[in-house]
Amino acid sequence: MVGTVGLYEPDTYMEARPTYPLEWYSKLAALTPHHNLAWDVGTGNGQAAIGVSEHYKQVIATDVNMAQLERATPHPRVRYLPTPQTMNDNELVSLIGGENSVDLITVATAVHWFDLSHFYSIVSRVLRKPGGVLAVWSYFDMAVSPEFDSLFKKFHDSLLPFWPKEVTDYVHEGYKTLSFPFESVGLGSEGNPLPLEIHKQLSLNGILKLFRSFSPVNVAKSQGLDLLSPEVVKGFENAWDGPLTSVRDVTYKAFMLAGKVRS
Ligand SMILES: C[S@@+](CC[C@H](N)C(=O)[O-])C[C@H]1O[C@@H](n2cnc3c(N)ncnc32)[C@H](O)[C@@H]1O
Repeated sequence: MVGTVGLYEPDTYMEARPTYPLEWYSKLAALTPHHNLAWDVGTGNGQAAIGVSEHYKQVIATDVNMAQLERATPHPRVRYLPTPQTMNDNELVSLIGGENSVDLITVATAVHWFDLSHFYSIVSRVLRKPGGVLAVWSYFDMAVSPEFDSLFKKFHDSLLPFWPKEVTDYVHEGYKTLSFPFESVGLGSEGNPLPLEIHKQLSLNGILKLFRSFSPVNVAKSQGLDLLSPEVVKGFENAWDGPLTSVRDVTYKAFMLAGKVRS
């Protein structure tokens, strides 16, 4: 699948990423009549693949980026497989499990990088019909406290010129703009994603690590611009209201679209 890769520094991203709530996986699993095979696409370090594996006999977890897969967490029911962009459609379909074989496809924080029409054509081939479900989700905004949130907004605005188009066009729009030509299963539909929240206990050090892993910060840095300058960091420290290592409840705003192949 054509798409941009390598936008996160893998080690940093792994430490600082939010964790998707386990109930998301049980909700999705409750929608599929069979639980033999799941495919987690753009799996990265494998967190969604491992979440899904609680409900399916086997999970195929694929990514175009070997650096991500090398750091993925091993699991007896998860098979990590690279899918280089040179792979043709028939090879990809048979690698995953063949036509009509997959009960659940998940794409966590990655579908906006994909060539959507190509990806959806593969989805239509491999999803089990009837019954198979595709779910895509992502997150962007975060809420900590009014003071912190207004600094985050300023920081976010300073990053805007440096984000790739896929992020500004889709993620910043909460996937409302993402084409999603599937039949609704009650968890978001095209133009109307389901709003969700991810709660995480994070220290300011953890949050700053996440910010440092954002590609625009590094793109801007390579152009001589420090978007996380000592002044910006100081602002976040003042707004944190406590030791930088103290943890607080951080709410990430997430959004999901799920659907079946239209009959
Ligand atoms: C932000 S990471 C998300 C990783 C993981 N799903 C998670 O939620 O923690 C996006 C992942 O999508 C992968 N990716 C980007 N373009 C891709 C493509 N065209 N096909 C498959 N994977 C892709 C990247 O290599 C990266 O691992």
